[in-house]
Amino acid sequence: MKILLLNGSPREKECTYTALSEVATELEKHGAKAEILQIGNKPLQGCIACRACQKLDRCTFGGDIVNVFLEKAKTADGFIFGSPVYFANPNGSMLAVMDRIFFSGKRWLSAKPAAAVVSARRAGTTSALDSLQKFFQITGMPMVPATYWPMVFGYKPTEVQEDKEGLQNLRELARQMIWMITATKAAKDAGLVPPEREEKIWTNFMR
Ligand SMILES: Cc1cc2nc3c(=O)[nH]c(=O)nc-3n(C[C@H](O)[C@H](O)[C@H](O)COP(=O)(O)O)c2cc1C
Repeated sequence: MKILLLNGSPREKECTYTALSEVATELEKHGAKAEILQIGNKPLQGCIACRACQKLDRCTFGGDIVNVFLEKAKTADGFIFGSPVYFANPNGSMLAVMDRIFFSGKRWLSAKPAAAVVSARRAGTTSALDSLQKFFQITGMPMVPATYWPMVFGYKPTEVQEDKEGLQNLRELARQMIWMITATKAAKDAGLVPPEREEKIWTNFMR
């Protein structure tokens, strides 16, 4: 079982990373392979709606994390997207990356469990989570439960380490992800098939 974790913070090994590491350690403790990818601190291209990805099955812009992530997503069983909270939202570069990953890589993501994790100093966590979680439902990804919304608080990693409740919730999230993937595999092995998908109807305006 392989879980891909994406750190949206431009600060590689700080608060969001501390939260993702807690999830990764728990995943590995229970036999999964966890890999944390970084979006880094270089300028990141947003989606330009060129739709080249619909023929390529990857983003037309190479050279950054998006296609690296998508290549690894092909063989991943689940995903965790971590982000710092910037003005009560995920940070801008993370959203640019998410737009491109989800627009170009739906086929590698759909039907695989996903969760978002956010780190904030003080406020804006639930709106940032709401924004990240919206990517999952539209992509047909079951959202992994926990016992609280997946967030930690801190301005420095040492402060995140003190958020005992937040970290405990993240360990729960990791175990729930393993359970979801294991249960889905058992259902498949027992001959259960996912519900049929209707051909997509596309209406661009409300009647
Ligand atoms: C541009 C910017 C905006 C921020 N906005 C918020 C905010 O709205 N609410 C909050 O609690 N913290 C805010 N913060 C603080 C970070 O969310 C917080 O320190 C987070 O843990 C940083 O994660 P990182 O260390 O992984 O980058 C902001 C930080 C920056 C740089």
